[in-house]
Amino acid sequence: MTEHISLHLDLGERSYPILIGKDLLAQLPVLLKGKFKSKHAMIVTNETVAPLYLEAVLRALQAMGMEVTHVVLPDGEQYKDSQHLDLIYSALLAARCDRKTTLVALGGGVVGDMTGYAAATYMRGIPFIQIPTTLLSQVDSSVGGKTGINHPLGKNMIGAFYQPKAVVADVSTLMTLPDREFSAGLAEVIKYGLIDDLPLFEWLEQNMARLMSRDIATLTEAVAWCCRNKARIVAADETEGGVRALLNLGHTFGHAIEAGMGYGVWLHGEAVAAGMMLAAAASQEMGLLRADELARIKRLLEAAGLPVAAPSLGVARYIELMQVDKKNDAGRIRFIMMRGLANAFITDDVSSDVLNKVLS
Ligand code: NAD
Ligand code: GLY
Repeated sequence: MTEHISLHLDLGERSYPILIGKDLLAQLPVLLKGKFKSKHAMIVTNETVAPLYLEAVLRALQAMGMEVTHVVLPDGEQYKDSQHLDLIYSALLAARCDRKTTLVALGGGVVGDMTGYAAATYMRGIPFIQIPTTLLSQVDSSVGGKTGINHPLGKNMIGAFYQPKAVVADVSTLMTLPDREFSAGLAEVIKYGLIDDLPLFEWLEQNMARLMSRDIATLTEAVAWCCRNKARIVAADETEGGVRALLNLGHTFGHAIEAGMGYGVWLHGEAVAAGMMLAAAASQEMGLLRADELARIKRLLEAAGLPVAAPSLGVARYIELMQVDKKNDAGRIRFIMMRGLANAFITDDVSSDVLNKVLS
């Protein structure tokens, strides 16, 4: 068995392990021993990931003596909806799955979020396991129990906090990820540095070239570092009453970019990168961030192959789009701003002057 990093997300009886390393799919029989309630499991994946990794996961689970079925969804954020969620319920019902059946999410954040929500709601809750295969899902979406689908009137607006029983992040799967998706994942990695972790930000400045070349040891370290940070924040605030909102750095502006440009035109991570630049520019306008600090953020995002200039949607449109955000409180838009590097904070006190300046 090759070495892997084992983290623990501490949530009392909902605690679970996060296992990170290379070639972990083949080791699932050992890594997931004791994690299933019965011999029944259903893998949920999509039409892109299935030809790459479904066979390996099927074989590994069958080697554990499991009876495994699977469902393959179409690939894309546009299918993260109630109609395609229904395909998972239908497959579960057709296979007569009961409350002890475990769902296994094999794919990126779309598959993970949908599978988690299906698990949260099928028969009022069945166990699920996350096997994330994108950088974004390994460092962010598979950890922390946010599950859900989109509604025509808003992204991720239907969902539940529902924790998996385990997360297995096999970094070898990242070798097949398209470059653009890989860079999008790096935006979330940089986000963790900017929130509260200067050593991570500085390590990324030193190691971005190695990460971009997908050196497996460097990637493993980056994924583990981010998961450690996320586990700490989620353990402190599972349902986002406070500090967890910091994980939305760059997302207030980013969601507006995604929606304003039309979903799928900008990848989530790309929008978050440009969103972090807007948050940095606004923080500078507020006298909280120095020009040299802003320049370092820009350099790092560029080195990760990410966009640093936001599209011009017009100030009024940005504000209209940012008003549809789960973080908002009594109609006031809540922003994550930066008091220097690695010191993010939540505020609804950003003047329209500042917004006008950075958004126009
Ligand atoms: P994604 O799931 O759409 O995956 C990106 C693309 O990569 C897809 O085409 C997918 O099929 C493909 N892919 C996946 N793994 C691959 C691999 N190993 N090799 C080749 N191709 C592969 O996108 P994502 O960036 O992983 O996730 C974005 C989603 O995650 C959004 O819906 C977002 O709302 C959600 N999200 C959720 C949370 C959370 O906390 N739950 C956090 C951040 C984002
Ligand atoms: N991705 C943000 C969160 O999990 O809270």
